[in-house]
Amino acid sequence: MSSTVSVNGRITPEREAVVSVFDHGFLYGEGIYETMRTYNGRPFLYDRHMRRLRNSARMIALDVPWTDEAMAAQIRDTMAAAGLKGAEAYIRLLVTRGVGDLTYDPHATPVPSIVIIVKPQIDPPPEVYQLGVRAVIVDVVRNHPATVNPMIKSNNLLNCALAAQEALRRGGYEGILRNYRGELSECSTANLFIVKAGAALTPPLDAGLLPGITREFLFEVGAEAGIAVREQVLRDGDLFGADEAFLTSTTREALPITTVDDRRIGTGTPGPVTTTLLEGFRRRAWSA
Ligand SMILES: Cc1ncc(COP(=O)(O)O)c(C=O)c1O
Repeated sequence: MSSTVSVNGRITPEREAVVSVFDHGFLYGEGIYETMRTYNGRPFLYDRHMRRLRNSARMIALDVPWTDEAMAAQIRDTMAAAGLKGAEAYIRLLVTRGVGDLTYDPHATPVPSIVIIVKPQIDPPPEVYQLGVRAVIVDVVRNHPATVNPMIKSNNLLNCALAAQEALRRGGYEGILRNYRGELSECSTANLFIVKAGAALTPPLDAGLLPGITREFLFEVGAEAGIAVREQVLRDGDLFGADEAFLTSTTREALPITTVDDRRIGTGTPGPVTTTLLEGFRRRAWSA
C-alpha cells in the first residue's frame, strides 16, 4: 500500500503530492520533522513528539503557527483518507521554511509549509528481533553540535544519509557514528545502547545526538522493570566489550545489535536485558 499525503492541508495519493521547488525545505534543507507511529490507531507519545518538533523549530528560528491539536486533526484527516484497514500507521510530519525567493533571509518565506505522510507501519520481521542485526562503525563523523546540531531533527539529513550509505556498502543494517571527540554518539537512524553488568547505557546528549523519544521512554521502561538505564560516555571498546547492544527508534522499538563490524557482541544473540526492555516497551505502548 502506498502513502497518502497532506500538503498544506490538501490530501492526495503520493503520486500527486508535490511541493514547490522554491520551498526552502527543498532548496536549503530548511525544515524539521517528526516520525511517529500509532498503537491501536493512536499516535504514540504525541505530546513528546510535538515538544521535540517545537524545540527543533526554535533551534532553526522557524515559526510553527499551528497548535498541537490542529496538527493532530490534520494527522487524523490524513489517516482517514489513507484507509489503513486496521493497519497501524507510520506518520511523518514535516514543517519547512516555506516558499520564497532564492535567499537565506527568513523574511522571504513568511508562510511555513506543512506536510504529513501516512502509510501503513511495517514492522521489521520477527527474525530480525530473534537474531539481531549487524551494525558497522562508520568513518562519517556525527555533526559537531556547533554545526548542524544533532539535537535538531532536521530535514537536512545528509550527515545521516552518508553514514547509512557507508553502512550499507559495508553490509551493515545500521551505521554507528562517533562524534568529533571520537566517542560513540548514535546510529544513522536510531539511538544506541549497550548493556554491561545488567545496566543499559547510552551516550549522553552532550555526545551530540538526537534526543530520541524511544530512548527517553526507555528510561521509564527500565525503572519499571528494575533495570538501570543511564547515560554514560561510550567508546569503541565499551561496545566491543558489551554483554549486549541494541538500537532504539520509533518504528523499530528496541532492536538487538548482535554483531558490530565483524565482531560478536556478547554471545552474539539477543540478550536478556534487551529482551526485557523490549517486552516492557511493547507492553506500555500497546496499553497507552
Ligand atoms: C539520527 C537519529 N537518531 C535517533 C532516532 C530515534 O529517535 P526516535 O526514538 O524519536 O524515533 C532517529 C529516528 O529517526 C534518528 O534519525
